[in-house]
Amino acid sequence: MKKIALSGIKPTGALHIGNYLGMIKPALDLATDYQALYFIADYHALTTVRDRRKLKQLVYEVAASLLALGLDTEKIIFFRQADIPEIFELTWILSCFTAKGLLNRAHAYKAAVDANQAAGRQPDADINAGLYNYPVLMAADILLYGSHFVPVGQDQRQHVEIARDIADTLNHNYGRIFTLPEPLIQDEVMTIPGIDGRKMSKNYNNTIPIFTDSKTLHKQVMRIVTDSKRPEEIKNPDACNVFGIYRYFADPQAVETKRSLYLNGGLAYSDIKQELYELLDNKYAANREAYLDLVQDQGGLDAILNRGAEKARSIGLRVMEKLRRKIGIR
Ligand code: TRP
Repeated sequence: MKKIALSGIKPTGALHIGNYLGMIKPALDLATDYQALYFIADYHALTTVRDRRKLKQLVYEVAASLLALGLDTEKIIFFRQADIPEIFELTWILSCFTAKGLLNRAHAYKAAVDANQAAGRQPDADINAGLYNYPVLMAADILLYGSHFVPVGQDQRQHVEIARDIADTLNHNYGRIFTLPEPLIQDEVMTIPGIDGRKMSKNYNNTIPIFTDSKTLHKQVMRIVTDSKRPEEIKNPDACNVFGIYRYFADPQAVETKRSLYLNGGLAYSDIKQELYELLDNKYAANREAYLDLVQDQGGLDAILNRGAEKARSIGLRVMEKLRRKIGIR
């Protein structure tokens, strides 16, 4: 039997090319070697998205986006977290074996506390227990299906380690129940720059979205920040934000040609930007059309996600039955 690789995506905003390279593409590629499970983490989004229409819409958008990017539901079990009721039962059980101190040290919670303290507020001001318990819910996502591997970005590594810690605690107490998961981090593409040169992230508002119209795409690519060197001047490609994105999309030969233009003079930023725009526009044109069709068909998306949930649940139920037996419940 193939090992299980599982990943989740929080529906919080439009997908961008950094998401695509950093987690979507690697996760889709894994489906050849692993039994892949991919889900939309709608209950995780509830820690921040508090508008019912927006949350619903975001779930459909992310579902349509992944399908439009080629997620093959024959190979990948694709579903919505909220369709798996066992997740909440498991979350409670896991929380009884989670050291509170472990959650105190989780990055997202610590960052929120630090921000409060820096602003002179009470450490826990405006922090909900959902944010605090977020890692336990995520551990349930991972452990319910016996996941061996969890492809995630570097920022999620700690969460996978927490899941592993919790699994280990239960295994020690009751004998082997859970598979110990390992994060699969894509080192090479973690560093795709945003248009301002910081890591591409919707938190920084510096993304290049995938499913946008050509005009917006063009505008966004032209806004990539560069220095003001003239074409004939010598430049360092590895310090250039445009090149930092271009190199993931152009073919290797074109990348080498451009590299030597940077190093020897003769590269105009406006030219390479235009070329990058055309590459992105062509690459995603077909996906964009597919997306527009899919996103309007909410009934169709529900049907796809429901089928996925049935498959995921049948895996999860086996793990839950064993767990309940081992801990003495039922
Ligand atoms: N926390 C992840 C993120 O913000 C999303 C997520 C939820 C997840 N549950 C997961 C990722 C389980 C991998 C496995 O990106």
